[in-house]
Amino acid sequence: MAIKNKKIDLSVKFCGVNFENPFMLSSSPVSDCYEMCKNAFNAGWGGVVYKTLNLEKKFKVIMPSPRLNALHYDGKRVIGLQNVEQITDRNIKDNIKDIKRLKKEFPNKVLVSSIMGYSDEDWTELAALSEEAGADMIELNFSCPQMAREGAGHKVGQSYELMTEFTRATKKGTKLPVLAKMTPNITDMVPAAMAAKAGGADGISAINTVKAITAVDVNLLTPLPNISGNSSISGYSGAAVKPIALRFMAELARDKKLKLPISGMGGITTWIDAVEFILLGAGTLQVTTSIMRYGQRIVEDLKEGMLDYMIEKGFKSVSDMIGKALPTVVDPSVLPHKKQAFSVIDKDKCVGCGQCYISCMDGAHQAISLDKNRKAEVDEKKCVGCLMCYHVCPVDGAITYKYDKFNFKTH
Ligand SMILES: Cc1cc2nc3c(=O)[nH]c(=O)nc-3n(C[C@H](O)[C@H](O)[C@H](O)COP(=O)(O)O)c2cc1C
Repeated sequence: MAIKNKKIDLSVKFCGVNFENPFMLSSSPVSDCYEMCKNAFNAGWGGVVYKTLNLEKKFKVIMPSPRLNALHYDGKRVIGLQNVEQITDRNIKDNIKDIKRLKKEFPNKVLVSSIMGYSDEDWTELAALSEEAGADMIELNFSCPQMAREGAGHKVGQSYELMTEFTRATKKGTKLPVLAKMTPNITDMVPAAMAAKAGGADGISAINTVKAITAVDVNLLTPLPNISGNSSISGYSGAAVKPIALRFMAELARDKKLKLPISGMGGITTWIDAVEFILLGAGTLQVTTSIMRYGQRIVEDLKEGMLDYMIEKGFKSVSDMIGKALPTVVDPSVLPHKKQAFSVIDKDKCVGCGQCYISCMDGAHQAISLDKNRKAEVDEKKCVGCLMCYHVCPVDGAITYKYDKFNFKTH
């Protein structure tokens, strides 16, 4: 149950646009048509980024089938999702009609038009069409990793020149704020984001999907999804990519020259994920895979959890939270080396499963033994505080750690 506090809400201003809350559908099948976006608005999402539009003048989009494979791990379904989906296969007229209708019926919700052109003229035209349809912002898809058309998607996001050129071409067709959506399939996202900024981008969206192969069918000797005997390296999303997305958030947000608002995404499922993205610099948040997995109604938990957290921590607004964890993200070379940690076992809580013992013996520093009741014991002289035992322990609070000042152990 949400803690009641009438003084604060989740509204946020992003690139000059007012959001009733920072939660948006990201561009994908979840935002593919009028019905889905309408349902999302009614469910309480603050905005949608519509499925990527194109002009289909020279290139007809055909979706491979099947188009998804998923990573299931240790009893959990869909830890990560791989897709070979293209941008929209619906025609531009129908999509523009849907965007117009959505904006007419939901004037206070934010509608971001995601676009992909194949030439300067395409980007300019798509931007103008989006603005005329009533979109509030435009997102440039520089990042789809499995475009069937050569030279599009993440190939653009890997070319600084093309990003600058296509952003500039988009700005020719619109006065709306423009977000460049970045590929994580690049070593350093900051120079790529700077290239979009040079073309006039007002903000950055990150991340699109991570290039991956989720599995190989060892009977058929073919990676999955098996599309009539073939497969492709293609986009991976969901909870499994969150750590990669958070890394990019921090790198983009702490760069001293970039200084652009960031719409963050990649694996957001719970309100804690959402707060993490904001603390590392995101100003709004986007979600696809968790909606595909759990449905649009996750937004209720996202909103309620974030509001409760803000009240508990004394944050007065979403903007108040943006980037608050960034000052603690430092280069490994300047990490403080003042204290040595060591593990502490609560024998009353230890269930004697021996998992910490195995990990410490075979994968760490042989500091844990089992007593005659199979309860774990730590040899503080040997423990280096790596905390592998803490991470494998299945019992909350059975293993914690303490600091022992200025007593570093080296091997
Ligand atoms: C099936 C599928 C289709 C997608 N299609 C698009 C698209 O058309 N345009 C786009 O910019 N991103 C597309 N994405 C990427 C998502 O918008 C998002 O960047 C990515 O999935 C990471 O967020 P998530 O982990 O919440 O899914 C797609 C993702 C999936 C899973």
